[in-house]
Amino acid sequence: MKKNMTIYSLEEFEFMRRAGRLAAETLDYITPFVVPGISTGKLDQLLEDFMRSHGGIPATIGYHGYPKASCISPNHIICHGIPSDDKFLQDGDIINIDITVILDGWFGDTSRMYYVGKPSIKARRLVETTYRTMMAGIEQCLPGNTTGDIGNAMQQVAEKERFSVVMDFCGHGIGQVFHGLPNILNYGIPGTGVKLVPGMIFTVEPMVNIGTHQALILKDGWTAITKDRSLSAQFEHSIGITETGYEIFTLSPKGYTYPPYLEKKQNDE
Ligand code: MF3
Ligand code: CO
Ligand code: CO
Repeated sequence: MKKNMTIYSLEEFEFMRRAGRLAAETLDYITPFVVPGISTGKLDQLLEDFMRSHGGIPATIGYHGYPKASCISPNHIICHGIPSDDKFLQDGDIINIDITVILDGWFGDTSRMYYVGKPSIKARRLVETTYRTMMAGIEQCLPGNTTGDIGNAMQQVAEKERFSVVMDFCGHGIGQVFHGLPNILNYGIPGTGVKLVPGMIFTVEPMVNIGTHQALILKDGWTAITKDRSLSAQFEHSIGITETGYEIFTLSPKGYTYPPYLEKKQNDE
């Protein structure tokens, strides 16, 4: 399939604002349900109901045969964990919930990490580092910069903590398609790759592992895990390039940036 690099008009950003907001509201909505004992299948059902009751369509259902409305990826699962009624969250888990909603033909794609009960200090350090990794990438999303600038900034933040960035998955163009160009790799060399211009719309979605960057796909054909079973984390925003910088379409209306979301942070910026 040939993928097109679409440059959107800045007026069309309004449609992305709407789709992105619904995606972010969906992740806000699910937050209090992420507790020990709930199944990932139940979370998926709640996510699907929320998206549909707000006029959205879950983009993942039927996408290359994917069966569910969300990807839910605990612990050593890197991404594309398939929600299941038999998979129950446990105290200490860190989980990624990734949803993509179609609203009026536009795709909003975002994911966040959640804490189930109280994860280890190391797990929390991974999650906080992964959030900083995504934001360092987004800060490079300026017209004139390149996709290599984004990847390099992300790789630097993760590797400074001696974590690794996943190379087998990347961010992608989005808008009126789910996955388009440009690819936004989680690593790179400054000044290389595709030059960013106003009107580009894509995701920034780094996956960061405590151990090896290497991934394995389970026999279900979807679930990606770390080869060494070390913990993995990911955050994702959909953004657009403006004349002067970037606009994030999937910011949390509730201000949920990184966890914990429902208790006051000790050292909030
Ligand atoms: N939302 C994922 C992304 O960030 C894609 C999931 S595709 C699925 O690109 F089929 F696995 F759901
Ligand atoms: Co994505
Ligand atoms: Co996603």
